[in-house]
Amino acid sequence: MSSSPRPLAVVTGASSGIGADLARELARDGHDLVLAARSVAPMERLAAELAAHGAGAVVNNAGLGAVGRFDQTDPLRISEMLQVNIVALTELTRLLLPGMVARRRGKVMLVASTAAFQPGPRMAVYFATKAYVLSFGEAIAYELRGTGVTVTVLCPGPTATNFQEIAGTSELTFFNTAGRQVMSAAAVARLGYRGLKAGRRVVITGLLNRITALGGRFAPHPISLPVTKALMSRR
Ligand SMILES: NC(=O)c1ccc[n+]([C@@H]2O[C@H](COP(=O)([O-])OP(=O)(O)OC[C@H]3O[C@@H](n4cnc5c(N)ncnc54)[C@H](OP(=O)(O)O)[C@@H]3O)[C@@H](O)[C@H]2O)c1
Repeated sequence: MSSSPRPLAVVTGASSGIGADLARELARDGHDLVLAARSVAPMERLAAELAAHGAGAVVNNAGLGAVGRFDQTDPLRISEMLQVNIVALTELTRLLLPGMVARRRGKVMLVASTAAFQPGPRMAVYFATKAYVLSFGEAIAYELRGTGVTVTVLCPGPTATNFQEIAGTSELTFFNTAGRQVMSAAAVARLGYRGLKAGRRVVITGLLNRITALGGRFAPHPISLPVTKALMSRR
């Protein structure tokens, strides 16, 4: 086996949505890829598509949400969110970082959300997991300054993927408010990848999402809690 001079990228949640489009960005930019998810067929199709860019892909995947009152949410669903959104993300990052630091080279992207910037009644666990991702990512980005390794936290707003159907959020006021801009996964991936390459600590996709995030971060909770709850309720 000849050793490849091409950089290797691992993408979890690569079977659909933002992960699949991040894989496309990475392949176009000359990376070999390790793609991880549970659904094999879409991953095989993606691997075949990416082969056209000359990227070898190993099919081996993540992020999910759930809407509803916490005490009425399926405990298994809660556990799955914690495992995928927090535990796997943290453990995989811990596994891969030491090698990057030793080589003084590497880039980590953690996908959070604009949900990371405030508590989210009716999606309490999902919002809290994304707050974890943002906090964790910003902290390790700061720790790793000067090591040659950068960490970028990508914070998309509403994006057209399978996420809404799986989380049950399609009918929420938030996704249907007049004028609300739902971005394509390709546009989110493009902005995220640009930020990753530049080594930016936090990337919030689009002006409206930046304003939403700013509001979430600085609005007093007696205001943001009822507003978020109303947005996370059905129309
Ligand atoms: N779409 C939005 O509006 C939005 C907004 C902000 C942030 N995000 C974040 O963006 C990330 C990507 O989501 P997406 O919008 O692209 O949604 P998506 O199309 O549903 O993709 C989610 C990916 O995560 C994988 N996944 C889900 N549950 C998993 C599990 N239990 N174990 C392993 N993998 C699992 C899925 O693969 P398999 O099902 O094949 O395993 C899929 O590849 C997530 O972290 C999400 O929280 C999305």
